[in-house]
Amino acid sequence: MKYILAPSVLAADFKVLGEQIRLTEENGAEYLHFDVMDGMFVPSISFGIPVLKSIRSATKQVMDVHLMIQEPIRYAEAFRDAGADILTVHLEACEDILSTIKKIRECNMKAGLSICPETDVKKVEKLLDKIDMLLIMSVHPGFGGQSFIPDSLEKIRTARAMAKEQGLKLDIQVDGGIYHRNVRDVLDAGVNIVVAGSAVFRGNPAENTKKFMEIIKNYG
Ligand code: DX5
Ligand code: ZN
Repeated sequence: MKYILAPSVLAADFKVLGEQIRLTEENGAEYLHFDVMDGMFVPSISFGIPVLKSIRSATKQVMDVHLMIQEPIRYAEAFRDAGADILTVHLEACEDILSTIKKIRECNMKAGLSICPETDVKKVEKLLDKIDMLLIMSVHPGFGGQSFIPDSLEKIRTARAMAKEQGLKLDIQVDGGIYHRNVRDVLDAGVNIVVAGSAVFRGNPAENTKKFMEIIKNYG
């Protein structure tokens, strides 16, 4: 199992976005987490295709795009063309989740499936063998800088157990309220991809990334 850090650019200083991304890449963050919000599925509006297109050329990191938008199937091709490597959609935002996952894979991207804190993880049990990554939200989607919801740990443990039962080497990602002080808890629960926004970009992104990588690389 590969342990990966995915800094969320939502928390970055957009005046110097390229520079901030570079600091995370050169200190070992293999993914870049890109939070797209439409003001409908979640209350906030963040950024979209033009920004993704421009940062695509600025980094070699895996572009891990988290769509917090209604009916994301409509934008699969546009995000592929803009440079997304992984496209994660919310179970709660899709009319037809199976067609949406199929469309993402037809576009040669990895398919991620995300569930909100209030969604029972049992709801995705029959979908695990159809996706590449399961994203367990540990905050209510829509904002960075929130506190980690402790119940998420049990959800992660259940998801990891379900994947094991099905013989799946599934990537499980956690997103929201992850800091140096609690990252080991989510790794212990079964996560292998960690999203962190504020904990990376508030203060010194290079130092913060380095500290996460020390914990993640030495884990297991
Ligand atoms: C929230 C986003 C998260 C958020 C993480 O809706 O999906 O990726 O940016 O930010 P922190 O790590 O500050 O909670
Ligand atoms: Zn996210």
